[in-house]
Amino acid sequence: MVDGSGPFEPRGQPHYTDLTGLMYAHYPPVWVSSMVSTESPLYQIRPTPAVSIDDHTDDLNHDYQTTHIMATRDDIIQAIGNGNSTATAIAEAIDKDRSHIARELKAMSDEGTLTRTKQGRSYHYDFVDDRSEDGLSVHKGYAWNEWVPEDVPEYIPSKREYAEIRAEVDHRETADNPAHIRLTGPTGCGKTHLARALAQELEAPFFDISVKWATDTTDLLGRFVLVDGETQWINGPLTKAILASRERPAVLLLDEINRARPETKSALYEALDDRAQITIDALGGEVVGGEAVNLVVISTMNVGQGHHVEELDLAEQRRLGNRWSIDFLGVNHPDREARLIADRTPVSAMFAARLVEAANKVRRLANDHDEQLSRGIPTGLLLELAASAYKYAQAGLEDAALRATRTAVVDPYYQRGDREITGRDTVVSTFRSFFEGMPSEAVVENAELQAWADEDIAETDVDPEEAVG
Ligand SMILES: Nc1ncnc2c1ncn2[C@@H]1O[C@H](COP(=O)(O)OP(=O)(O)OP(=O)(O)O)[C@@H](O)[C@H]1O
Ligand SMILES: [Mg+2]
Repeated sequence: MVDGSGPFEPRGQPHYTDLTGLMYAHYPPVWVSSMVSTESPLYQIRPTPAVSIDDHTDDLNHDYQTTHIMATRDDIIQAIGNGNSTATAIAEAIDKDRSHIARELKAMSDEGTLTRTKQGRSYHYDFVDDRSEDGLSVHKGYAWNEWVPEDVPEYIPSKREYAEIRAEVDHRETADNPAHIRLTGPTGCGKTHLARALAQELEAPFFDISVKWATDTTDLLGRFVLVDGETQWINGPLTKAILASRERPAVLLLDEINRARPETKSALYEALDDRAQITIDALGGEVVGGEAVNLVVISTMNVGQGHHVEELDLAEQRRLGNRWSIDFLGVNHPDREARLIADRTPVSAMFAARLVEAANKVRRLANDHDEQLSRGIPTGLLLELAASAYKYAQAGLEDAALRATRTAVVDPYYQRGDREITGRDTVVSTFRSFFEGMPSEAVVENAELQAWADEDIAETDVDPEEAVG
């Protein structure tokens, strides 16, 4: 069905590429919307709420008789050019030549853009295109396989979370309970990784929304953009996730959901309830519905100092599902984190193990509330550190590990602008106690590290302050 419900307001939207200027000149009395797609040569003129053009449209198309008149762009420009400045006047001017509009409609049905069925004395027109099934004007023809993540390294569980989350997802249908999963944990503990790994295993298209305070509904639902001078509606990630869920399981990651402001939240929660639907105001209130059972929703929240975490009320928590709190992998499983580092970077297994030991010491201090250390070291940063240490060792630089500690961890993570993050010095001295004097070759060779450790920390002539501080 061609559905003209809901006004398009020209203000603020570049929807009517060539009409915008005219519309501005006459706004507010005239609302014009293209019929369904921006490619359509036909437009609807709508009266302002105070004005009605009811009686001008009756035998053009019975679906429009109460609110719309159809016109070509040239009609509108011409009518405005002839001095008609209200919707009523424009509609009247155009409506004088109904045969002309009828000819346009017939031409469109001849070329296959519209279907035409006789109804009484008039014709009924429908759009025939890939979106006509339920009148959506959003694009729906996606090759969803392209949205399935590939090459995601294995997610290594830090507790029992992965098995439980898999159970929630795999048996959602039998339990008639949606797979909504809430993850909390410090930054870099692998929350995003878990979501991507899950999507890969399920062969599910993956959609990722990073929520910020500034995130608004256009970031979720979509927006109009100019492409080669043409205005097009581009679906946002939430719209895509809903569309994908009609066909297959889809994973939607809502990162830092607690940062969303109320209006953004309400769009999200509409998608999360059992109708799995969204309402796109910018498309005249178009409703797009999905399959709730297919929508796997993973929402995350960071915890720890430096993160303002807003409490979610109980209703919100219920919608977001069960909660798992994840810690850095190495905290519970030093061996697993060390293996991850040794697998994903070229450093030696022994160096990786020692790196995790050093990081865990810092993490323990960060968890100890008496200590002035604000944050523990994320797994992701250890991977960075390892990669950099390897490169410095390959380049023949001395004290590769201490240098990498500074460039990959201390300066990026414990320094903000000119300001030091609380505990920076503790991190520096902890890593120094683990790596001072260690030959760079030991980053790459187990044997080198073993030999050095056996010597029980050799003397070094490098000033560690210079290397790390
Ligand atoms: N348990 C784990 N298994 C595999 N990789 C992990 C694990 N934990 C962390 N990583 C790796 O650490 C890095 C950071 O992880 P990720 O980006 O998923 O963290 P996050 O919790 O989403 O962080 P943020 O809160 O900053 O978004 C990634 O490279 C990820 O692959
Ligand atoms: Mg993340």
